[in-house]
Amino acid sequence: MKIIRTIEELTSITGQLKEANKTIGFVPTMGYLHEGHTTLMDQSKTYADILIVSIFVNPRQFGPNEDFERYPRDEKTDQTIAAEHDVDYLFMPSVDEMYPGNDVVTLHVTDRVDVLCGKSRPNHFDGVATVLTKLFHLTRADYVFFGLKDAQQVAVVKGLVDTFNFPVKIIAVPTVREVDGLAKSSRNVYLSDKERQEAIYLFKALKEAKQLIIDGEKNPVMIKEKVKKYIEHHTNGKIDYVDILTFPSLDTVEKINQQIIIAVAVQFTKARLIDNIIVEPSGTVPYAII
Ligand code: PAF
Repeated sequence: MKIIRTIEELTSITGQLKEANKTIGFVPTMGYLHEGHTTLMDQSKTYADILIVSIFVNPRQFGPNEDFERYPRDEKTDQTIAAEHDVDYLFMPSVDEMYPGNDVVTLHVTDRVDVLCGKSRPNHFDGVATVLTKLFHLTRADYVFFGLKDAQQVAVVKGLVDTFNFPVKIIAVPTVREVDGLAKSSRNVYLSDKERQEAIYLFKALKEAKQLIIDGEKNPVMIKEKVKKYIEHHTNGKIDYVDILTFPSLDTVEKINQQIIIAVAVQFTKARLIDNIIVEPSGTVPYAII
């Protein structure tokens, strides 16, 4: 595995790979790698000849009161994990390397952002779209891999790729979970022991909601109420949102008769957890290329 710190070196390598007709799989991350990330890396190996992973805690997607400084970082462990998963190139640029301060154009995401996490994180997805636009160009990826845990991110990236005709295919990979169902996340380390036990009720609530839909319930308001009550009953977390929207367009749903996402965000003392489930009236949707 080769560690790359500069854009110059990365573009030189990706240029050579393209000339050699190699296909490139890309997993963008902010590091502190866990099984959610390594699942994406392993998937990439089944799609493409070469695997590039980036580790970059992107300041532009954090709000002024968010956890940019506090975001967990562990370069050495990340390098070991990446090497164990046969990463060919690990791109770890500095903030100055990615943002030398010469921007002439600003990206602003106009759709799919005024709901779910986007509602309470203004400009977050502008930052995500900006860094991914740069990374897609630099890596020249044929395939890019995202976890469906951040389903709104998948929906926005799909919008970005479709809008600007990026020649990259998005592979959406189901959320990786702990044995008890909690979605894996770098932020889980901030949960107290008691909160960690309560956190499993987010996914349990989503599964109950999915069952209601499979059983024929079509009223999203009713389902959202039940999910809220369930989470309030089983946790001390503060619900940020429980929502049901079309996926991936993230439009409001009056009556459930199409593919939808049920998404929740709950604030615990030091960690805000999100989770979701994508459902069709007949059952869960398996995802690959979107
Ligand atoms: O999901 C993340 O870790 C980040 O939003 C991403 C895609 C690496 C962009 O910074």
